[in-house]
Amino acid sequence: MSNFQLPTPNLQSLISNVRAAQRVVALTGAGMSAESGIPTFRDPQSGLWAKYDPTQLATVGAFERDPKLVWDWYEWRRATRRDTQPNPGHFALAAMAKLLPHFVVVTQNIDGLHHLAGSPDAIELHGNLARNKCSREDVVIDRAEARATNDGLLACPRCGAYLRPDVVWFGEALPRDALERAFAEATHCDAFFAIGTSGLVEPAAALPRFAKRAGAFVVEINPEETPLSASADVVLRGKAGQVLPALMKNLGFQI
Ligand code: OAD
Repeated sequence: MSNFQLPTPNLQSLISNVRAAQRVVALTGAGMSAESGIPTFRDPQSGLWAKYDPTQLATVGAFERDPKLVWDWYEWRRATRRDTQPNPGHFALAAMAKLLPHFVVVTQNIDGLHHLAGSPDAIELHGNLARNKCSREDVVIDRAEARATNDGLLACPRCGAYLRPDVVWFGEALPRDALERAFAEATHCDAFFAIGTSGLVEPAAALPRFAKRAGAFVVEINPEETPLSASADVVLRGKAGQVLPALMKNLGFQI
């Protein structure tokens, strides 16, 4: 159990708002998985976008120009992910789903760690690293059914086009069902947590604003200030893997 102490100002209002909430949403970003060992995107030293150019690796144009480079980069990210486990923050959110009347995770992460931790309902806005889809037909294809190509890639067994990871790249639309559900949950919730996200990438960044406008109590969990901080009702400055277990304890919940 974490020894992290939640700050006392607004603690009572935080506890009473979460306890009274009928519907709660937790939006998570890369910071949620940082303590599992998965790098964030925008950390100036260790962030993926500090080391790699997203226009060369995470766009349709990049895949068309050099599919092997893009594929290999995602294979590396898959291998990194396989070496990781959910952290205490993921487990705390999975436990909240059992303890609160209606609790939904909306994640920008593609690592699948919320599901692995036992969250029953994690809406994935940016896809999932574990899946592949046909780059032409946009249908999910199981790796076992794919054809290996001479250039070290996988091809669709139906049309022969290259497979690509089933993740959202820059310039692409988000999966419509996930997006609609996320906005519906945000506009109907009583409490909204924004955890480990810089709040810089739309449309996910709009979710806390929608929740706030609809009257939800908005809580940010992040060691750093973000554009959301000023409008949040409570800001918990700390790491998700420490703050969330401490919050559970303060709520009187056992993990
Ligand atoms: P970012 O890398 O932009 O932001 C990560 C946030 O997590 C920062 O605000 C950090 O301060 C915070 N953070 C770091 N460690 C933390 C910890 N242990 N606990 C809590 N917070 C911590 O990542 P995202 O906001 O997720 O999109 O980025 C959004 C999207 O931009 C990603 O989904 C990805 C990227 O381009 C696509 O690839 C489509």
